[in-house]
Amino acid sequence: MAEEINTIAGSKTEQYQSLIPQIKSLLEGEDDLVANLANICAALKQQFNWLWIGFYLVKKEELVLAPFQGPIACTRIKKGKGVCGTSWEKATTIIVEDVTKFSGHIACSSLSKSEIVIPILHNNTVMGVLDIDSKLLNSFDEIDKIYLQQIVQFINFN
Ligand code: SME
Repeated sequence: MAEEINTIAGSKTEQYQSLIPQIKSLLEGEDDLVANLANICAALKQQFNWLWIGFYLVKKEELVLAPFQGPIACTRIKKGKGVCGTSWEKATTIIVEDVTKFSGHIACSSLSKSEIVIPILHNNTVMGVLDIDSKLLNSFDEIDKIYLQQIVQFINFN
């Protein structure tokens, strides 16, 4: 495993293309879920420095807070609630350009202005979500969606 992440300046695409192989190699040979989720958050934080980057895992009928980087956050989210619960229910990535315009948005931090939530699918079941918040409006787009969806596919639930 590499001991440090090499961060770069550049376009969003260039940043993801530099980071993704490094995340892949960070996860290789490690099957502990919490360790891998923690390192994915740290690597994304180091490269992009978004406000909040973290995972929620499906436990019984709720999403429960898992490894993250950033300010403290809500610990439990019900299916269909907020951006995370909606992403879980619909099994689809949701990009929120302005959190004040998303009906039912759960504000864990008043600093969050835009958000992206990616469901993590394993055997056609949503196991959890990757949630990222930005201090800026309109931070996330189709480029983030494509690359973040690739990153969550590296997560091994076996
Ligand atoms: N905003 C999320 C809640 C989680 S925090 O942003 C960390 C939502 O509406 O589901």
